[in-house]
Amino acid sequence: MSDVIKFSVNNKKYEVSAENGDMRLVDYLHEELNLTGTKFSCGIGACRACTVLVKYEQDAPLETTLSCLAEIENLNDAEIFTVESLGTENNLAPIQKAFLENFSFQCGYCTPGFLIAATGLLERLKNNPVNEHKLDAMIDEWVGSNLCRCTGYVRYTEAIKRIALKTLETLK
Ligand code: FES
Ligand code: FES
Repeated sequence: MSDVIKFSVNNKKYEVSAENGDMRLVDYLHEELNLTGTKFSCGIGACRACTVLVKYEQDAPLETTLSCLAEIENLNDAEIFTVESLGTENNLAPIQKAFLENFSFQCGYCTPGFLIAATGLLERLKNNPVNEHKLDAMIDEWVGSNLCRCTGYVRYTEAIKRIALKTLETLK
């Protein structure tokens, strides 16, 4: 095995010594890259607040990955995307705007996980459009296991569906 692990985060390349390969991705994001948008909560794979998107191989699709469970050593050559890869404060991504406009969150702690998982869904739809009647099941598949202790889930799923429908519309 090589003595360095190479990967990218939000399109910037990084290398980590293989000696530190057992570091959790969420710790690396927070402590080494100061990317604190990805949240840490349960630490056991239950809440999905720590979700990021990962492309494990060049032509592979983006997958949601729980950064509290993912160890750096399993991310060699991966492309990782965190919530910081979305819009900026003055130029929000459509899904961020939709969550704001639909009052989808209160404390916001779970929001990065919902945002990045929803982004994965939208990217999947761009590459593999589905019939609209399949959308609810897809939304459930991508964000149905994310936990929110404040607002519940209806306002999140409404906002995601609105943007997903717009995405499908633009592909017609
Ligand atoms: S922190 Fe809860 S699933 Fe990762
Ligand atoms: S908005 Fe507070 S946990 Fe979801």
